[in-house]
Amino acid sequence: MKRILLIVGGGIAAYKACELVRLLRKAGHEVRCVLTEGGSHFVMPMTLAALSEDKVYTTLWDLKDEAEMGHIQLSREADLVVVAPATADLLARMAGGIADDLATTLLLATDKPVLAAPAMNVRMWRHAATRRNIDQLRADGVTVMTPDEGAMACGEYGPGRLPEPAAIVAAIEALLTPHVTPLAGRHVLVTAGPTHEPIDPVRYIANRSSGKQGFAIAGALARLGARVTLVAGPVALPTPHGVERIDVETAREMAAAVEHSLPADAAVMVAAVADWRAEDAAAQKIKKAGGGTPTLRLAENPDILATLAHGTRRPRLVIGFAAETEKVLDHAAAKRARKGADWIVANDVSGDVMGGDANTIHIVTVDGVEDWERLPKEAVAARLAERIAEALA
Ligand code: C5P
Repeated sequence: MKRILLIVGGGIAAYKACELVRLLRKAGHEVRCVLTEGGSHFVMPMTLAALSEDKVYTTLWDLKDEAEMGHIQLSREADLVVVAPATADLLARMAGGIADDLATTLLLATDKPVLAAPAMNVRMWRHAATRRNIDQLRADGVTVMTPDEGAMACGEYGPGRLPEPAAIVAAIEALLTPHVTPLAGRHVLVTAGPTHEPIDPVRYIANRSSGKQGFAIAGALARLGARVTLVAGPVALPTPHGVERIDVETAREMAAAVEHSLPADAAVMVAAVADWRAEDAAAQKIKKAGGGTPTLRLAENPDILATLAHGTRRPRLVIGFAAETEKVLDHAAAKRARKGADWIVANDVSGDVMGGDANTIHIVTVDGVEDWERLPKEAVAARLAERIAEALA
């Protein structure tokens, strides 16, 4: 049981706060509600009082309230402060440190974690002022959820819908759960992104890998306490928090960086390494004029995964990825054996996986196949990191 102080802002999504209170009560938490002046135009204090089985606070200027429980105490008594819906105005006042009503005064006075679930019109959400306020709040340590995308009450479409109450409950539970670091003291090596193999100084062979899944995995492993070395091919993604990154260009550079980063307890090879490179990359730009159509002779690149898995400094857990467009599981099982990996994470990339934000994976191990449902790449990463932690425990 935890004590949650729920601040209900003034937006049409305020009615969903009632469902949120119900779900939190069902999960065994105590909920105390604060209704802003705007919020009180959308939901009745009585509704929240009945659902929370507690008094609802609406103003800073109630002498009786203030005598029973001062506003500072109200903000300190909770384990977590939740703002849902967090309107553009409320977020702006929070970001500016303004305390001109009960809600914002409590938010300024609290020493507890704060979770904000925004809800507003899509243009308000996209406005530069809101973007600035969100950045500021996140820098101040407030957890700001990303609103859902969809049809809005105002008839427009886009991001700005209040996240579903169940999703807010999940975010609350995550914030209330003490941080676990099952991978503390472990070193995990991750490769990600494509490689670029030069043909001449301006041209190269590449593939469609975005690096998103590998970067997400590196971040998820770091969040579980691992020391993570991320060997990244050429991608423009930000380095996940707490991850040490080595940027490389070619497969041979990637192989050297992996070798250099050993020893490791586990290796997750997500990179889409080019199988071939130009045998002799030209030192100068190959010219079109005169010489006819050049022939590109290819040479095989080192197989980084197989080399690592068969080497003397093999990490205890070696995981490869298999991007296939057909017979996904057959190819993955064969690949696992051939490369000497413990697990192969297979995904069908015939759809929109490459560059997209979701992934459907199958984990092929010596014991068989585990199918996962289609998940955002971040969720695949979080789950996979947990599986890796279990395997190394
Ligand atoms: O053979 P294929 O490229 O499909 O195998 C994919 C797996 O092998 C991935 O885990 C990838 O990171 C790894 N790999 C590698 N070095 C290569 C080719 C693939 O590490 N040269």
